[in-house]
Amino acid sequence: MSDATIRSMFIAPSLLAANFTRLGEETMRINRTGADWLHLDIMDGHFVPNISFGPAVVKALRPLSKLIFDVHLMCAKPGILLEPFAQAGADRMTIHLELGAPVGSLIWKIRSLGKQVGLAINPPTSMSGLEPHLERVDSVLIMTVNPGFGGQEFITECLTKIQQAAAWRDKLGLRYRIAVDGGIHCNTAASCAAAGADTFISGTGLFEHKNLKAAVARMRKRVEAGAAE
Ligand code: DX5
Ligand code: ZN
Repeated sequence: MSDATIRSMFIAPSLLAANFTRLGEETMRINRTGADWLHLDIMDGHFVPNISFGPAVVKALRPLSKLIFDVHLMCAKPGILLEPFAQAGADRMTIHLELGAPVGSLIWKIRSLGKQVGLAINPPTSMSGLEPHLERVDSVLIMTVNPGFGGQEFITECLTKIQQAAAWRDKLGLRYRIAVDGGIHCNTAASCAAAGADTFISGTGLFEHKNLKAAVARMRKRVEAGAAE
């Protein structure tokens, strides 16, 4: 039995796909779905060509939910945002490998704020840069689209990266989660689970269904079956 089969599968709805005219109600709707994390996409208009929301919105939502707040920083200078998001109520913060040299100190800073650390990698970036950081992260986030927008198509070539992250985890005896983000619907989620992913971030793939709770349950069922393949 591979490690993936005994690990619990986490479903993380992305608030980016929610109705922005009522983020509070949407957060409370997500609370009732049985999801594991609430994924919060932070875009700065530099690292990605889009802008989403900042710490003030996260702070306003925090009292409405007991879910793990998973903050995905698609930002060129995340260093200036770590404390504000920690204070706003983030439980975990993910930065991008593409930032280069500052990654090591950013990981340390997130940890020193008492938060869980995620490290994300974009589709065109080589996996080799990830390896030196693996012992210091709680999750590896394999981007399965180029970040910046919801509703894009899953890039199938990223499946081999999931396999690589899972092989390293086994070989090194580590326990980081393997998350996927972008174009995650039931079918693509099941393929990712079969490749070794255990955490499924999904915006459109969940919110396109009127019954969000049923959509979360359906995705969970598919990834549990996918992991057992
Ligand atoms: C993309 C974001 C994702 C986004 C996914 O840049 O990081 O979290 O919300 O959206 P879907 O699931 O619609 O591809
Ligand atoms: Zn994201």
